[in-house]
Order: sequence, then C-alpha cells, then structure tokens
Amino acid sequence: MTANAVDSEWMRLALRLALKGRPHPNPPVGAVVVKGDVVLARGWHDGPGTPHAEHMALASCIGDAVGATLYVTLEPCCHTIGRDGGQRIPCWQRCVDAGITRVVIACEDIDPRTAGMGIQQLRDSGIHVDVRLLHNKAVYQQRGFRSIQATGRPFVIHKVATTLDGHTACEGGDSRWITSEPARKAVHRLRAACDAIIVGVGTVIADDPELTVRSVSLPSGRQPRGVVFDRTLRMPLSARIVRPGTVIVTTTAAPKASMTALQDKGCHILTLDVDRYTVENILPLLADLGLGIVLLEAGGLLTGSFYRARCVDEVNWFLAPKLVGGGSAPVGLAGSPLATRMNGAIELTQMRMHRYGVDVLITGRPVWEGREAEI
Ligand SMILES: NC(=O)c1ccc[n+]([C@@H]2O[C@H](COP(=O)([O-])OP(=O)(O)OC[C@H]3O[C@@H](n4cnc5c(N)ncnc54)[C@H](OP(=O)(O)O)[C@@H]3O)[C@@H](O)[C@H]2O)c1
Repeated sequence: MTANAVDSEWMRLALRLALKGRPHPNPPVGAVVVKGDVVLARGWHDGPGTPHAEHMALASCIGDAVGATLYVTLEPCCHTIGRDGGQRIPCWQRCVDAGITRVVIACEDIDPRTAGMGIQQLRDSGIHVDVRLLHNKAVYQQRGFRSIQATGRPFVIHKVATTLDGHTACEGGDSRWITSEPARKAVHRLRAACDAIIVGVGTVIADDPELTVRSVSLPSGRQPRGVVFDRTLRMPLSARIVRPGTVIVTTTAAPKASMTALQDKGCHILTLDVDRYTVENILPLLADLGLGIVLLEAGGLLTGSFYRARCVDEVNWFLAPKLVGGGSAPVGLAGSPLATRMNGAIELTQMRMHRYGVDVLITGRPVWEGREAEI
C-alpha cells in the first residue's frame, strides 16, 4: 500500500469509530492512534460531558504514544472551558503532551472556538499536520451537526418507495410491499444512520409502522426515535409507534385526555399553537431534542409540506418495476403543487443511482433557488 492508501485506511477506521457515538449537539468524531503499523488506541465522542475522541484514545493507549500519528475525523479543539464551566485540557494540547508527532485531520471544525486555531496550535507546537483526508466523507458524517449550526434545524432525508407509475399504495390502500427485500434492507441501513424517523398520522393509521432498525447492524446501539406529526391526536393508542421515547408533535387543539394517555405510555409530546404549527417551526424543536439527522418516511401529505417549506436536504427515491394505476391511489408528493410551471420545478443535483434487486434507488440533493447545499 502507498503511504496515502495507508493513511486513508486509518482514517476510514476513525470514521467507523465516530459512528459509535450519538453525540448531539456535538459532532460525531472518531480517532485512532497509530505507531508504525500498530494501533495503540481507538476513541470516539459520545456527547456532552464525555471525553472528546482524542482524549478517549490518548487515555487508553496500549503503549507509548511518543512519535505516534493521530488520525482524527475533526480538527482537535481549543476549548479550555467545559460545559460544566470547569477547566479542561484542549485536544491539541493533549496531543502535544502525549508526544504525538503527526496529526491527520479529515475536516476543519466550524465551531468558532476552534475553526482553524486547533490546526495552528498543533503546527506552532512542531507537530506535522495533514488536513482534508476523506474530507467529504467526514463532512457528510457530520451533516446533522453542521445543519443545526448552519440552519438551526436537523438534516432532513426524504425516503419514499413508489411504483414506476408513482404510487405509494394501491387505490384501496394496500402498500405491502412495493419494493423487494434487498431494497427494504437498504432502508434499514438508511434508518440506522438517522436519529429519528418522521411520519404523519395518515401513515400511522394506514400502515401501523414499527419504524425501527431491523436485520442490519446499528453501530451506536440506539434505535432512532419515532416522530409523528398529528395535529389533533387521531393516532390510535394501540399503534405500534406508541412506545416510550416516541415524539408526538401536536397542537393545543388536541384533546387533553389523548395527550395524557400518550404521555402515560412514555411518549414525548411537543405542543404548538395551531397558527404556529408549521414544518419550519417544528424542526428546530426536534434539533433541541438532540435529533441531528432525521428521515422523513411520511405519506404524500406531510412530505408535500416539507418540500413546500424547503426543508428537505437529500432525496432517496426507490422505484419498483410495478404499475398499479388508479387516479386516487396515494402518491409520493401530495397537497398543493410545488410548481405550476415546469421551469419552476424543484431540481435535484448530485444524482446517483443504485440497484437493489429489481428496484432502483435514485438519490439527490434538492436545489433551493440558488442556495447551494451547505452541508
Ligand atoms: N411508499 C412509501 O414510501 C410510503 C411511506 C409512507 C406512507 N405511505 C403511504 O401513504 C399513505 C398515507 O398518506 P398520508 O399523506 O395520509 O400520510 P402522512 O403524510 O404520513 O400523514 C398525513 C397526515 O399528517 C398530518 N399532518 C400533521 N402535520 C402536517 C403538515 N404540516 N402537513 C401535512 N400533514 C400534516 C395530517 O393529519 P392531521 O391534520 O390530522 O394532523 C395529515 O392528514 C398510506 O397509504 C401509506 O401506505 C407510503
């Protein structure tokens, strides 16, 4: 392997380690300490109040880290004050103290307390620093954190499965299954990378989905939280999503008895005044709950509202080679039109295609009128 390929291999390991944490509001970070071809330590960040990935790794080295290389997915920090107000050793200083002689960083920090200064401090201390190895992968991995920093709301991934003629169910409502087993497994992998799965009450009533990750590995060991948009609490108490931790977003117009019954089942209720109940107002509340990456798996009505609010960052559209027809069969996007003329249509960029069994997945990023994707 070339030196560059070896570096990439260690950085990939650091990126995999970062997935072990669910550190919101902090970014996911992974770190590996390597000397020669021996891994001395691994670390990741698991959230506020827990050590940063570099600290975790350097505290657990199996040998002397003097002369070793640290691979880290985010620029080492310069923070000297912890969340508890106490003094802490910044990560760059920790590297110097441990005798690290080279640091390889995937991406710079956007936190103004560090932004570029962590790299400068390392260099000023005589440490050799290489930056931007697997940069795009690291930025994408930190998309929840970066979205909240840039826009105040989570990173929203829209996933839908339709027949080739655009339907999400048959006219009578039957929707199981549109796609094949390999495509459904891909959806579970997608869910595993998300902090929450959002549906509208229409989907809960029609399909009673479980909204959990099954049959694939869950690196953080934590299931994504279910989130249901349900203005008047029409959702049956017997629904499978009614379980501890599920977030239900409703209005002050909902019956108080229903709210109490859902709370008794362990659900977390977010209540907004009727005139404040919009996607734009709700998403920052989900960010406040620690949800950085959310997967929108709703039916056409709620999905249409997310697009009209321009609150979709990535599209995952599964197409099955099936036709069901029927003028009133549900579709992927419903409600008032997103465009009334073709030259006003939402366009997607960064398009990719994948095959899963007989099905096709098309992914892309919506372009919102001149606003380049920030994340
Ligand atoms: N193939 C797929 O990928 C897929 C995925 C999901 C669903 N589906 C299918 O979609 C169908 C259900 O469609 P649906 O459109 O009723 O489901 P939905 O979009 O999940 O739920 C719609 C309901 O959400 C509530 N809601 C709350 N806030 C909203 C907002 N800001 N904008 C719009 N709605 C909001 C509304 O009820 P309230 O006004 O009472 O709150 C609305 O009736 C089912 O046939 C299901 O099988 C398919």
